[in-house]
Amino acid sequence: MAATIIDGKAIAKQIREEVAVEAAQRAAAGKPKAGLATVLVGDNPASMAYVSSKQKACAEAGIESFGHHLPATATQEEVESLVKSLNDDQRVNGILVQLPLPSHLDEERVLSAISLGKDVDGFHPINIGRLAQKGRDPLFVPCTPAGVIELLDRMGVKLEGCNAVVLGRSNIVGMPVALLLVRRNATVTICHSRSKDLPGICRAADVLIAAVGRTEMVRGDWIKPGAVVIDVGINEIKDPSHPKGKRLVGDVAFNEAKEVAGAITPVPGGVGPMTIALLLRNTLTAAKLLNP
Ligand code: GUN
Repeated sequence: MAATIIDGKAIAKQIREEVAVEAAQRAAAGKPKAGLATVLVGDNPASMAYVSSKQKACAEAGIESFGHHLPATATQEEVESLVKSLNDDQRVNGILVQLPLPSHLDEERVLSAISLGKDVDGFHPINIGRLAQKGRDPLFVPCTPAGVIELLDRMGVKLEGCNAVVLGRSNIVGMPVALLLVRRNATVTICHSRSKDLPGICRAADVLIAAVGRTEMVRGDWIKPGAVVIDVGINEIKDPSHPKGKRLVGDVAFNEAKEVAGAITPVPGGVGPMTIALLLRNTLTAAKLLNP
């Protein structure tokens, strides 16, 4: 039987509307607008597109955004001093430094400079450290991993006791999503390019999260019948039959996988829209921390 297609776009829209309603209620109560500062360093076209969608989504939800764009040649001191000025800016509740940064910059030092209470991306080493520790809670959870869990929850997927396999161990998705699944009492396997028998490991998954950035690497016969498959990959491929000559595909061979899985996210329209929705929610949470 063909899989249920998980409509991330619709679920994200619902979350964005929930945020917009709460933002409007706060405005009606005379509270200051929540504000998100975005920091983009350099001219990576994908990063520029992501930041611009984040700013547009803020406007639609009634959240103010403050865009800062530094040249690719910006020094460590310049980036850190911008972050510190945003820490002190009362209008700014959340600070998002778009990653990756140009390679001459020390990402950890930049992320560590963000005030914990404004770390809406959840990448500050203390927030990530708390995510990894029992009995401790981060102030914010990274947006894409939080979006993955939200999709699973809103689809009614039971995580406790399930075999979850995470393909990929990046700081942005793989590792934090694995930590979130552990916190939900799933039995978690993290695998990566050096793992032996990836198809065999994936075949044991009740919930499979693919976040490796490799075009359609996960084939239909890697999937356990009835499994829930969440595809975090966003890969551009050439396609002369497409009006733009290219299109986006995930890390999972969707047409094969949908014949085996119980439920699956498409690319685009699956996890992607959830990242922005969770960023808006985190920004509103940050505003509430400052001004309950
Ligand atoms: N680059 C890719 N995904 C993300 C994200 O969620 N946040 C930031 N800051 N950079 C990213």
